[in-house]
Amino acid sequence: MVNMRAVIPVAGVGTRLRPHTYALPKVLLNVAGKPILAHILDALQNQGIMKTTIITGYMGDLVEEFVRKRYGNMDLQFVEQKEMLGLGHAIWTGRDTFGSDPLLIILGDTIFDVDLSLAFTSGVNSIGVKEVEDPRRFGVVISNASGKIEKLIEKPEEPISNMAIVGLYFIKDTPLLVKSLNKLIDEDIRTRGEYQLTDALQLMLESKAEFATFNVDGWYDCGKPETLLSTNRFLLDKNPTPQVLKDSIIIQPSFVSDKAVIERSIIGPYTSVADGAIVKDSIIRGSIISYEAKVTSSLLVDSIVGNRAELNGHFHRLNIGNSSTIDHS
Ligand code: UTP
Repeated sequence: MVNMRAVIPVAGVGTRLRPHTYALPKVLLNVAGKPILAHILDALQNQGIMKTTIITGYMGDLVEEFVRKRYGNMDLQFVEQKEMLGLGHAIWTGRDTFGSDPLLIILGDTIFDVDLSLAFTSGVNSIGVKEVEDPRRFGVVISNASGKIEKLIEKPEEPISNMAIVGLYFIKDTPLLVKSLNKLIDEDIRTRGEYQLTDALQLMLESKAEFATFNVDGWYDCGKPETLLSTNRFLLDKNPTPQVLKDSIIIQPSFVSDKAVIERSIIGPYTSVADGAIVKDSIIRGSIISYEAKVTSSLLVDSIVGNRAELNGHFHRLNIGNSSTIDHS
């Protein structure tokens, strides 16, 4: 077991993924056959990280119920963030569970394909970064020639650096992080109205903490419908699961739960079908069909069908004369 505590903030409302997040918290939405949070927790367990603090908020009871049931073998702490005041505030909310454990902070709506041991064998605080074209939506880092971070800026208005902070942080000096978060809250230091984790890390830098960066190429956001679908594609590509069905065809890469019912249909490529879903007489490409959803007589592409949603299409009955054109596109 690695001596490290994962901290996963999942309190947010997930407005960009409505209507799905009206019924479920974002982290429980399905991608490539299991909830986003399950991808994260499976990766942590695989890398030997068992101590985990989950910062809950919006529909926190559902998150806790799911995690306790499926990951009862982990050392779990749940802390509620009562007001959504920003990522810095979310991490601050969990401070009593940290002790002096080194921390691995992972945003709850992001799946990483990265060897975490690279981060924690580096021995210093380090921040996962990726080069992006337009850094204005992100926090960015400015590093010196030897790779040490000199400055961190949340959502810069001027394009001073293209190295974006991706949402994966390794904190070795946990007491100093907590001190910096306390200062943020006590002195009400906000950027764009929120307590930002980036600002707390900048305070750590100013207290002479050292920060390095590590490159995260495999960074898969699940925060919007388009990115949830592209993450679905990526994960299916990585783990194709060849399957044969009786009277249907699965085009790889795809994932079809063995607890789903598929009849007279073509599934895939890039489609995941979760437990309990029923698909009949349909062709589905590039889509996510969630738990117990029911799709019949439908042609779907790049679609997300939520838990227990029902979609009934129909076949056309036509009587078309010679040289006619009918175009439904
Ligand atoms: P986002 O900025 O994506 O917010 O947070 P959100 O609420 O999840 O989604 P939108 O913008 O409304 O669509 C990134 C991560 O940080 C957590 C979120 O739960 C998400 O996992 N977070 C953010 C908190 O836990 N608390 C906060 O105050 C802010």
